[in-house]
Amino acid sequence: MSNVLNRLGSLGAQYRDPVATIDWSACDPALPWLPPGVTSLSILDDLAPEIAVRLSQIEFARLCAAGLWLEGLLISRVTANGFLAAKSDEARIMLQEVREESGHGLMFLEMIDRAGLSGVRLLGPTALLTWIAHRLAPDDAAFWAMVYIGESVTDTFALRALRESDSGNPICPVAKQVLTYHHRDEARHIAAARALLDARIAAMRPVSRLVFAGTVRFLLDRFLRATLFSTEASLEALGLDDPAAAARTAARCPVRRQLARDCAAPAMEMIARSGILSR
Ligand SMILES: [Fe+2]
Ligand SMILES: [Fe+2]
Repeated sequence: MSNVLNRLGSLGAQYRDPVATIDWSACDPALPWLPPGVTSLSILDDLAPEIAVRLSQIEFARLCAAGLWLEGLLISRVTANGFLAAKSDEARIMLQEVREESGHGLMFLEMIDRAGLSGVRLLGPTALLTWIAHRLAPDDAAFWAMVYIGESVTDTFALRALRESDSGNPICPVAKQVLTYHHRDEARHIAAARALLDARIAAMRPVSRLVFAGTVRFLLDRFLRATLFSTEASLEALGLDDPAAAARTAARCPVRRQLARDCAAPAMEMIARSGILSR
């Protein structure tokens, strides 16, 4: 039994439904959904205020789309084998995450709907990462390392937005509640991914370590490109004349690239410290 998992399990025992908890009436249509520090694209400097608000809604909806994608993968992988002979401390954490990630997904769908972006392809290419995720098993250290990276990158982005909104760049109260609610649960999920990773590192085969060490940076780059950069469809939703060219320029935007590096840094530091890359 793991003390860390038991503590996290008791912290997650009381479930609150986010769709019922968020005060949806608190919406302020004049305020952006994300502050400028996490939405700015150098191609779109000096935006009219209403276009800047629209861009922030599109970027927020992308964060929601990234959450939906990651949460769907996590739910499908941890439930795939039906918890046969599972350790109860681990299975309890995974099932708590399944119900919480389902609640997050419903909250994210509400925000995507409110942004008027239902059915819009907000993420970059995800097929390879989805394919790999379906070949990683929750019994493997590499699975939890990937979960840790995915959750840490998106949560670091959200925390940055929350901090900036508290320092003179207010955002729509509903968007802020969604970010705050999600961050509270993710702090536990990230700690659990770390504990589940630690419990599996010793059993990791040398060849698995080599494969992980050889691919993690490549996969991280694909992940950042899929989740943190404007897609052609999202820039089309902004009303740009040539969204394909704008998306290519956005992919090279130095401000965005630095933001992506900053959001990945805490996860990569943990991976380097964890011992998963050694031997
Ligand atoms: Fe989530
Ligand atoms: Fe999570």
